[in-house]
Amino acid sequence: MAFELTFIGHAALGLVADGYKLLIDPYLRNNPATDLNPETVEADYILVTHGHGDHIGDTVEIAQRTGATVIANAEICTWLGQKGVKVHAQHIGGGFTYPFGYLKLTLALHGSRLPDGSDGGNPAGFLLTTNADEKVYLAGDTGLFGDMRLIGEEGITLAVIPIGDNYTMGPADALRAVKLLSPEVVIPIHYNTFDLIAQDAEAWAEKVQAETDARVHILAPGERFVYP
Ligand code: NI
Ligand code: MN
Repeated sequence: MAFELTFIGHAALGLVADGYKLLIDPYLRNNPATDLNPETVEADYILVTHGHGDHIGDTVEIAQRTGATVIANAEICTWLGQKGVKVHAQHIGGGFTYPFGYLKLTLALHGSRLPDGSDGGNPAGFLLTTNADEKVYLAGDTGLFGDMRLIGEEGITLAVIPIGDNYTMGPADALRAVKLLSPEVVIPIHYNTFDLIAQDAEAWAEKVQAETDARVHILAPGERFVYP
């Protein structure tokens, strides 16, 4: 069974798994990298890695309109639940079997305060095991951490990791992350949206492909990666 991942722009992603439409960190309206409209975008589930505005984005509006279930940590789910959004709270290390696959929250080293100053709990990443046993790791905003090796031991099909530097891993640490994760394919995100996170993804890809067995797939905003 194939899955499709669309790089919407910045850290916003679309993922279709077993026919289910997932939106990840749907920062659309104020996102300079996309024209996708929160008033029309479709979603069955919305995954939110942490509370920062460039990730929680238009989650409330999209979830209220579509009825999509939002999956995030317990603190973010409490905040969303108070706004009438349908939620499924998990926490780091915990997994749950949804119709689209088994989804586990993973460690991320970052912050997670919500736009109104509420406590957004700990930031997270996601590890999805699809119904066809492919493993998709969405790192979220994070610095490098050694336990990426443990995530890599699961056998990663696709890793989606930040390379922008300043707020997250930069290119050098992202290369080290690829070595710990040993994914079949890696897609860089969270770069070039703003001047502060400008990076040369092509140069990074050359280094990764010279030093690891991973295949780098660079997506421009709006482009889609289909596996296999
Ligand atoms: Ni962030
Ligand atoms: Mn961010």
